[in-house]
Amino acid sequence: MRGAIALAAAVLGAGLAVSGAQAQAPKLKVGLMLPYSGTYAALGTAIENGFRLYVTEQGGRISGREVEYFKVDDESDPAKATDNVNKLVKRDNVDVLVGTVHSGVAMAMAKVAKDNDTLLIIPNAGAVAVTGPMCGQTIFRSSFSNWQPGYAMGEVAAKRGHRKAVTITWKYAAGDESAGGFKEAFEKGGGQVVKELSLPFPNVEFQPLLTEIASIKPDVVYTFFAGGGAVKFVKDYAAAGLKKSIPLYGAGFITDGTLEAQGADADGLLTTLHYGDGLDNAKDKAFRASYERAYKMAPDVYAVQGYDAAQMLAIGLDAAKGDVGRKADMGDRRRDQGACRPGPRLPHVRHGHSDLPGPVP
Ligand code: PHB
Repeated sequence: MRGAIALAAAVLGAGLAVSGAQAQAPKLKVGLMLPYSGTYAALGTAIENGFRLYVTEQGGRISGREVEYFKVDDESDPAKATDNVNKLVKRDNVDVLVGTVHSGVAMAMAKVAKDNDTLLIIPNAGAVAVTGPMCGQTIFRSSFSNWQPGYAMGEVAAKRGHRKAVTITWKYAAGDESAGGFKEAFEKGGGQVVKELSLPFPNVEFQPLLTEIASIKPDVVYTFFAGGGAVKFVKDYAAAGLKKSIPLYGAGFITDGTLEAQGADADGLLTTLHYGDGLDNAKDKAFRASYERAYKMAPDVYAVQGYDAAQMLAIGLDAAKGDVGRKADMGDRRRDQGACRPGPRLPHVRHGHSDLPGPVP
């Protein structure tokens, strides 16, 4: 009898201990390092919106832990990146870093994340190296590699019969890798990139380069620009009279989130991306409706990637029973044995304002 009472007391005690532990589960500190100023400012805000939307839909918790946000504006400036990421890691002691847009900044984040064994989810920056040579069990990405949309468009351009191309982009990892992917597939398909034009990020003095394109007279131009720079490039391309004679193809960032500001100047552009706003599936429709309700505007690819980053965090943390220390339980263990590979090719092709089902035959 006494034994039964003791057992009941022990069970009750355990119950109290569990509910006490749940009530006291420490907050999950999420460090958002994103651009909130400069040419990529709107991209950073869309990523944060998407991330917060998913967390709000889960009642403000991930893996049972209330989410607390810490924010740093990285200004898309690689020179300030190490100091900025250290504010989140060393000063604020965040459990997970979420960022960023710019590849050069993301490289610095990946290094600090590795050195400090801090979880990092990259919601945009496509630098090939962060999931290639720098691949490790603390680094995840909810987006793309810069090479991917470029390669997909190189195939499309060659299949459409273009033979002579010029590429134009910002001179840093994103532009180089995007234009490099295009060139690789375009030349495999029988075309030739006759000139690789570039200007420093975030410069938008396109005029001399547009004059050069007019004198080269290629069959097609491939471009990577994004954010404020993408708006200006598309407008300048049309104003220079080039749109009428030389088709403009690009990674989908040229129009994603920027289409409204570009207006009719974006008509007829052909782009490739891992996401398109014309997707016809229940999950995407629910996401788009929820985002529009929350923010009174349509989501773009950056909002999707922010939402996906939060979903990845939830799945990983659930697998680790809410404990950020259990990194090996969060991802694919093969990643630690050098199993990082470039992702699959991207089939989604977008034509001006309407979606095509896949690469043009
Ligand atoms: C990048 O720097 O990797 C980058 C920036 C903006 C984009 C895409 C990629 O839209």
